Amino acid sequence: MIGTFTLGLLLALPSQVFAAAEPNTQVVAGSRHYAATPVPDRIVASPAADPSRGFAVAWRTDGSVQAPLLEIALAGDSPAVEGIRQIRATTRALQTENGSSHHHRADVEGLQPDTLYVYRVQGNGSWSAWNQLRTLASAEQPLTLLYFGDTQNKNVSHVSRVVRAAQKVAPEARMSLFAGDLVSGGDNMDDSEWGEWFAAAGWLAQETLVAPAIGNHEYFEEFEDTPQERRVLGRHWPVTFALPGNGASAAPQTSYWFDAQGVRVAVLDGTSALDLGTAKAQAQWLDKVLAANPQPWTVVLLHQPFYSPREGRENTALRDELLPVVRRHKVDLVLQGHDHTYGRRGEGQAATPQYVVTVAGPKQYRLSDEARKTMAPVAEDTQLFQVLRIDPQHLRYEARTVTGRLYDAFELRRDASGGKQRVELTDGRITPRDCPRAQTAKGRADRCWE
Ligand SMILES: [Fe+2]
Repeated sequence: MIGTFTLGLLLALPSQVFAAAEPNTQVVAGSRHYAATPVPDRIVASPAADPSRGFAVAWRTDGSVQAPLLEIALAGDSPAVEGIRQIRATTRALQTENGSSHHHRADVEGLQPDTLYVYRVQGNGSWSAWNQLRTLASAEQPLTLLYFGDTQNKNVSHVSRVVRAAQKVAPEARMSLFAGDLVSGGDNMDDSEWGEWFAAAGWLAQETLVAPAIGNHEYFEEFEDTPQERRVLGRHWPVTFALPGNGASAAPQTSYWFDAQGVRVAVLDGTSALDLGTAKAQAQWLDKVLAANPQPWTVVLLHQPFYSPREGRENTALRDELLPVVRRHKVDLVLQGHDHTYGRRGEGQAATPQYVVTVAGPKQYRLSDEARKTMAPVAEDTQLFQVLRIDPQHLRYEARTVTGRLYDAFELRRDASGGKQRVELTDGRITPRDCPRAQTAKGRADRCWE
């Protein structure tokens, strides 16, 4: 029993509470907080192959909605939306721990470039908000886009502020790229995790074009710990995003490309390449996509990195099959995740490619000694987002911490002959960050935070 004196002493002490290990979601066990309803939710727009002319939208309702409509019109200042076009969606059903849901997809084509539209999607007796989305412009116009490393865990608790911070720093961003491992999955709460991802992404998913790479956590292991063990694509991925579907035939639902205002973006499926034997097939596809690239800039997006900043992770099939294609076509920027740290490197003194590994979410690993020698800058224990500002002559890259501070920056500059220079932008960068703790709250010394 605590005496009055002792209690008084405890209350008088300055309180210093350290965050304990947190659950992966804020969903209480047994709750169906994120169950589908007749009202549309999980609305996310993604680029068509030519996002100056079209985009596609995925959304979700309960099972009472079949083949609903998407409505789109030119955005105006009056609430009287005029000249509405209606597009009928296709519908697929999903069964999860939150019950049954219907997932809809509508492709919008024939739009005008650099034009602000409003669109909304239908539920049962209800509609979503009118969302405003501007189509991308021609290659001569400047473009701002955002990049996020793995979000994966604690999306509402810890990822949502990264997304909000990025939107405050670059409210003009038209597009958002994600490194994959958007959720952790495999815990019988996959659907609630997706619910949290959309809660964290907020309006970003509806009013910028979202282009995700798939991560290993969007797959699950079948026949785990048996000789038949293999990766199987999770059921959420194909119904959650309305992607262009122009990828490698060996990874048709998870690889794709599009042209964004002077940037050809090719998205690869690293898990399929590493674990399902499709590295060579994806390399052949990438070779074709990049050989036919008329754009001044090239970005490759994939989950697992070519050069890992984490101890003991060598993605050999990526290096053997895909890296030669990246080098041959002089890709400017390779955006990656998976290793829950930050690290950037190039190849010797060459201006490009620049390889970036970054992390948006709270799971934080440790850097290898090798990474500290071969990458700069590097970071541990830091939630980050990236802002890319691109025009025909410049590609400016910034990595900022969740509080908005500049961690890394450089600019690629094209000269008249198409050659490229890289200028390191060191002004205003904060000092490098290392993990300050010996172990996580759960006692793992190989990680920095859960
Ligand atoms: Fe991963």
